[in-house]
Amino acid sequence: MHEQTPPKKTVVVQGGTDGMGRGIVMARLEAGDTVVALGSSAEKGRRLHAEAAALGAGDRLRFVRADLSSIAENERAVADIRAQSPAVDALVLCANRQAPRREVTAEGLEFTFALYYLSRYLLSHGLRAEFDAAPAPVIVNVAAAGLKVGRVNLADLQSEAKYSTIRAQMQAGRANDLLGRSLADEPSSRARIVLHHPGFTRTLGGIGHLRQPAKGIITLLGKVAAKPVETAIAPMVEVIDGPPAEPLTAIDRGRPVDLAMATFDPARARELAEATRGLVVAHHGESPLLPQTNEKWNGKGFSGNGETPSRRTTTRTPTSRPYPAD
Ligand SMILES: NC(=O)c1ccc[n+]([C@@H]2O[C@H](COP(=O)([O-])OP(=O)(O)OC[C@H]3O[C@@H](n4cnc5c(N)ncnc54)[C@H](OP(=O)(O)O)[C@@H]3O)[C@@H](O)[C@H]2O)c1
Repeated sequence: MHEQTPPKKTVVVQGGTDGMGRGIVMARLEAGDTVVALGSSAEKGRRLHAEAAALGAGDRLRFVRADLSSIAENERAVADIRAQSPAVDALVLCANRQAPRREVTAEGLEFTFALYYLSRYLLSHGLRAEFDAAPAPVIVNVAAAGLKVGRVNLADLQSEAKYSTIRAQMQAGRANDLLGRSLADEPSSRARIVLHHPGFTRTLGGIGHLRQPAKGIITLLGKVAAKPVETAIAPMVEVIDGPPAEPLTAIDRGRPVDLAMATFDPARARELAEATRGLVVAHHGESPLLPQTNEKWNGKGFSGNGETPSRRTTTRTPTSRPYPAD
């Protein structure tokens, strides 16, 4: 009897040009998949292409250059993916960069919020039709699932009152936990959500922008204490072949995380989703990447269907089936 080989998939990796994202790109190319890698550096894109070609997989890799701290660039990336890939089996979210000082994007949003959280929100909702065209879609969000440090300050999502690199990183990490909860509770597609905290991993991309001595200390620590990329990514690479049945799963360094933790609070998840939609509309305008809703933005809040925001329901896409039990 021949062993059945799993059907080849289409995998999109946000932040796929470096670190763990790059590792996942190469592993899925080796498995025979078609991969779309998103990143902001053309040079890293060229390097990735050369590595894929050396593997004999150059024709199965597409690099889409996009600065994903921009809402408009997320829209362009989704349009590009949609034009080439009618179905997306997996979206892996890895893009992040530490900002030593508070930076504001051209659209007026704080950089860490925009890149580390908002891009993930936009891609997770924006590719809903492509997920629903795949048999067992999954979104793998690589961040810091289940940590107790940091909090989402709904009154200061843009870190205007207080900024530090760590505070902004932690807030975005907790926001990704809430994003997982909200995608599971009010799904815009059939995609299962898997949150991963890899633990300290030997990557360099994230510290390129740090100043000394922090950069030197982290580099040294990485050499002695961090795990290799291959070890960190193994469970993320594997889950693409067999997504969990549950709508939401969280894993912290190999251990399942209790979804009753405050960091996954459903009410706060709803509030953050609402606030996120408001920020997108206020800073960019209505976007096809936003989950569909019956409500209209009136400049201050959403109204239109008579429901309070906390009871608002999303309108499913025409291709969708009942969620999330199917
Ligand atoms: N490494 C660790 O120890 C560790 C520990 C816990 C959690 N994590 C989390 O795991 C994830 C992956 O971390 P990593 O260390 O593998 O990351 P990394 O090596 O720093 O790579 C980050 C990726 O994000 C991309 N990126 C950065 N800015 C971008 C932008 N403006 N637009 C588009 N892409 C952008 C980079 O590509 P370009 O340079 O081409 O833009 C790169 O591909 C992150 O969310 C991180 O927070 C990491």
